[in-house]
Amino acid sequence: MSTIRVMFVCSGNICRSPLAHRLFEKKAAERGMGDRFRVESSGTTAYHIGEEADGRMRKTAARRGLDLRHRSRGFSRGDLEAYDLIVVMGHDHLRDIARMDGHGTFSNKIHLFREFDPAVNGGRVPEVPDPWYGGMEGFEEVYDIVDRACDGMLDRIEAGSLP
Ligand code: 4NP
Repeated sequence: MSTIRVMFVCSGNICRSPLAHRLFEKKAAERGMGDRFRVESSGTTAYHIGEEADGRMRKTAARRGLDLRHRSRGFSRGDLEAYDLIVVMGHDHLRDIARMDGHGTFSNKIHLFREFDPAVNGGRVPEVPDPWYGGMEGFEEVYDIVDRACDGMLDRIEAGSLP
């Protein structure tokens, strides 16, 4: 079985996508599927490139037993080709990446993460909210959403309906 290359994307690559990256890896390993994936994460903005994950996100993850070791990197056009699933946190990220993918060559591999959130049913797919300007409760909420969406995504992959 060939490796599935997964790229999670947010704005700064210091809060949401590093969490998705490490939690997806951990959950895949717990299901005995760890060797089926190569997982990476990146941001659509350059402000935080080279930084570790945000301290508030690290603390929230640590409290739940997840180590967020990480260095921020930017998303680049070549990633459209290099990954099988490009999973974004918000509608802005979808728009920015669709713009890089001018003719829509890779549009079938680009997904909003909450497409896989089992708590979402019908309507416009919501975002994983940006926790940057808020309090710690926002980071807890992000963790809960990412936790569910990772499970939903792994369920789809196990069922053979993704990618
Ligand atoms: P992330 O969070 O996209 O989940 O990494 C943010 C990090 C930094 C900023 C915004 C969101 N910022 O405006 O600097």
